[in-house]
Order: sequence, then C-alpha cells, then structure tokens
Amino acid sequence: MITARLTVSPHFVVGPVNRRLFGSFVEHLGRCVYDGIYEPGHPSADDDGFRRDVIELVTELGVSTVRYPGGNFVSGFRWEDSVGPRDERPRRLDLAWHSTETNEVGLHEFAAWLEKVGSELMLAVNLGTRGVLEALDLLEYANVRSGTALSERRAFNGRAEPFGISMWCLGNEMDGPWQLGHRSATDYGKIASQTAKAMRQLDPSVELVVCGSSSAHMPTFGDWEREVLSHTYDDVDYISCHAYYQEKNGDLGSFLASAVDMDRFIESVIATADHVKAAKRSDKTISISFDEWNVWYLDRFQNEEKIAGIDNWPVAPRLLEDSYSVADAVVVGNLLISLLKHADRVTSASLAQLVNVIAPIMTEPGGPAWRQTTFFPFALTSQLAAGEVLATKLQSPYYDTELYGSVPLVDAVATHDSSTATSAVFLVNRSQDAEVAMTVDLTGFDGTILLDAQTLSDPDPSARNTLDNPERVGLSPNKTAMVRDSSVTVTLPPVSWTVLSLG
Ligand code: AHR
Repeated sequence: MITARLTVSPHFVVGPVNRRLFGSFVEHLGRCVYDGIYEPGHPSADDDGFRRDVIELVTELGVSTVRYPGGNFVSGFRWEDSVGPRDERPRRLDLAWHSTETNEVGLHEFAAWLEKVGSELMLAVNLGTRGVLEALDLLEYANVRSGTALSERRAFNGRAEPFGISMWCLGNEMDGPWQLGHRSATDYGKIASQTAKAMRQLDPSVELVVCGSSSAHMPTFGDWEREVLSHTYDDVDYISCHAYYQEKNGDLGSFLASAVDMDRFIESVIATADHVKAAKRSDKTISISFDEWNVWYLDRFQNEEKIAGIDNWPVAPRLLEDSYSVADAVVVGNLLISLLKHADRVTSASLAQLVNVIAPIMTEPGGPAWRQTTFFPFALTSQLAAGEVLATKLQSPYYDTELYGSVPLVDAVATHDSSTATSAVFLVNRSQDAEVAMTVDLTGFDGTILLDAQTLSDPDPSARNTLDNPERVGLSPNKTAMVRDSSVTVTLPPVSWTVLSLG
C-alpha cells in the first residue's frame, strides 16, 4: 500500500485561524436570492419571506461572513433602488446576467437575514459604473448613527441602529473585460485609492479590499496587482484573489490537484504585494481576501445558449446551477486546506456562492432544500478548524499531472486550539485508484486521543446529491483511524477528503 507521513509540530505556528476564512457569497444572480434564500410563498417561509429550511442549512454550514450583493451584478447596481418602501422600488435591468432585478430584497432585508443565520455582512460598492460619491453615500447610509440626511433616511426606512459594516470591497473584478466599467490597472488603482481615502475619512474603522485579478490566468495577472497596489497600498487592508476550478477534458488527475494552483496563486500574490511593500519602504503588510473560490463548470456555462433579447429579462432564471460530485467535494476540501495553509496572509475568504448558484445548498421552488457534496468538507472545516494553523512536514509520493507537473498525492493541514485542547487534521488523497496508509506523527503533543474521524469518498467519484436522491453522498466515520503511541494512522480511500478530530 502507498504510504505517506505528516509530522505536526505543536511549537511552530503558521497563523491564527481567522473565522472570516469560512465566508461565502450571495449575489443577485439567478436563483441565489429569489427562489433561494427568499421565497415568500414557500411552506417553510418565515414572516419576512425567508426560507427556514435554508436558514437551517446555512447555519449548519457555518458561514462567517457573506459578501454581497455581487459579483458582476454590483457593477450596474444602484444601492438606493434597494432601500425604502418595497412597492416603490424600481425594477431594473441587470446587464451582467441579462435578468430583471426587482429589488424586493435589498440591504435591510439581507442584513435581517444575516442576523437569522448569524453571519457578518461584507459589502461591495459599485466602482464599475459609479464612483466615490455613491460609495460615500452608501457608507453614510450604513454606518453613520444619526443626524445626517442618509442616516436619517435609514432610520426612516426602519433601521434606527447603523448596520456597522466593517468589510468593504472596492468594486468587483475590475480587470475583467466582461465587467461593466472595466478599467486598466492604472485607472482602477486611482479610483480605488480615491474611494478608499474618502471612505476612511468618513469611517476610519472600515476594512477595505481592493480588486486583484479575477484569476491567475488573466493576461494581466501580476502586473495588475503590482500596479493597483502601487496606487492603493497605504489605503487598503486586503487585495482580493478569485479562482474557480473545473475538470476539463476528462483530466481528473489535474483537477484533483487544483489546490496546487491555488497555493501558487496565493504565493504569487503575496510576493507581488511584498514587492510593492519593499518599493514603498512600507512596514505595513497587505492581507489576501480570497473572496471568490469554488469549483465552477464555467465552460459548460459559456457554451450554453445565453439569455438574450431586448424584451427578455427574466426574474431569477436558473443560472450556474452546477451539480457537484464527490470529486468536486474533494477538490473543495483541498482548496480549504490551501487557504488554511496560508492563514498568516489569507485572512478572509468567500466560497462562491451560497445557494443554487454554484452552491453547496440547492433549493426547489415550493420544494425541498438539500446539501450538495461540497457542503460537507466546508461545514466540517468551519466547525473543526480553530485556534492556530500548525507548521507541518508532509512526506508523500508524487504523481504527474498535465496542468501542474509533478504534485504530491496527499495534501494536509493541521490546526490546534489551546483553549479547548483539541486539534484537527485535514487530509486529501488525490489518487484515483490507490488507498494511502497515512501516519500523522504527533510527537510533542501530550496523550492524544482520537475524538472522531470522518471521510468523504465513494466508489463512484462522480456520485452526487440530487432533487430525487438528496442524500446519496455524505460523510462516513473512518473506522481505520487509530492512535498508536504518539501517532494516528488512518487509511485514506482513493479520491477522498478526511478530517481527524483529536483531543
Ligand atoms: O460568482 C460568479 C461570478 O464570477 C461573479 O459574479 C464574478 O465576480 C465572477 O466572475
């Protein structure tokens, strides 16, 4: 049998596990909001029209922050449309997704929903078709207590207390030619700097995210980050990363190694940010907000017939409703491992998205809500990764991939929470046919006991949960896990994700 070994050091720490790593993303796109989190006619709807079954699943998923309201949507969005009496809110064209936005759900309703699920709002301003003044107006409306036109308007609209929003995104994917108001790095860097300075003048406590590249495969990647940060370095706290992965041309081997690409992406952005830091002789360090990441079968979407026509702007059409397999879930679990391994610099992240749209949770109008395969590694990582990420040494066999060269067959990360004296070890076996006999060496920890071991795998890596069979795939206890002396041994099935919970 193939063997691998992970040595975990209790003495060396990568960085704290920031709860914001377990964020998600709700965009006004397809059926994420309407017929997703919000469906007033649904049997489980509460008095505000939100589905209780979805609230329960989002709570179980353990989502810390939620980025909102886009995405590409935000670059055409007028925030004022989404507040005030609902029957007076305008219906608008959403050019990003060729849909109609009814504005039935806006800032107040979404903030109320976030209170129900216990998550923090991360708000994006429109820097595609709007600018500094509109961003300031939104910030005044959201965060100023009282006594000004917009804070009073908020109170009049039913919310006396400020929303108190900390995290703000300065636009979305401004490097992408598809983005409304797409700009060069220089032009975006300038407007992002002006907007950031003005927002801080109004509320110095805000944490600001400037747009990095919409993928590491953009032709401007690297130069974009350097140029944007050269304008905004002193004004922002985070630069964003976005990455989506898919299995292409049946190349499962490369797909299972997607986290290798994420590791390299993160490390390149850190290097670029630190280059700007050196050039500016700055003692400030920029963090990464990985605020869009997931498996997304983008090629499928791009090859589909698009919604089109001057008189055809549907409300909440079915868009980007990917159904996820076991292999997809293993990749999602591995991408979380990559984020955690970089916990010293990646301090915020958002799984894109949350409900129906490339999402861990699916719903049917008038019908059930269910967990996709990708739900499980996210929920357990959010639940069990706590305290600090520990330094590890991994000894693993390698395999060849078409996209990323020779990569380790196994990937892993470990966390330790001294307040509860518990640890968690997250493991992935990327082999398509071989079990891996894994040893986790915990020398240095006192008297480890195994609390639990859960694995996501299936003889059929393409198995998935569907409307007709919503519980086909789930987690199973891994009965091979056992403590021996100061090690834990466990067998990792092919194409699998595992978490060991230790006390
Ligand atoms: O998450 C779907 C889309 O992907 C977002 O709207 C956009 O920011 C990205 O390109």
